Amino acid sequence: MAIVQSFNMMSIALLIGLSLLLVAKSDPNTSVNLIVCNGNSYAQSDAYANSVAYVLADIMNVTPNHGYDYKTQSPYAQAVSYGHATCNTALNYNDCADCMIAARSAVTNNCLDKVGAQVSMVDCSMRYENYSF
Ligand SMILES: *[C@@H]1O[C@H](CO)[C@@H](O)[C@H](O)[C@H]1NC(C)=O
Repeated sequence: MAIVQSFNMMSIALLIGLSLLLVAKSDPNTSVNLIVCNGNSYAQSDAYANSVAYVLADIMNVTPNHGYDYKTQSPYAQAVSYGHATCNTALNYNDCADCMIAARSAVTNNCLDKVGAQVSMVDCSMRYENYSF
């Protein structure tokens, strides 16, 4: 009898723990408010392609670790690309990181090989251009 009871207590504790986990887990709202692509394109063989790859990876990785507002530019002397990203400061770290991944996907899916692009989602934003902004 005592064994059955403590077993029941354990399942109850497990259930409570599980539901707490579910409540604590949230998702960033990645509904798109705005996507704008720069009208100009670059070729994959252009030096600028490396700059865009650098900037997108940098803003995606650093923004969650940099007060949720981060500006950068590619370090290559030629064909510099400039980037800026933000997260809603109400997000937790993982949600900001997830929102950055979603924003980067939206940018590359909608504005492939464009010289610049900006996406504004409900909980984060991301932009890159070949000029400072
Ligand atoms: C995300 O934001 C949009 C626009 O404000 C809203 O309509 C939608 O319900 C939100 N989605 C969630 C899951 O909160």
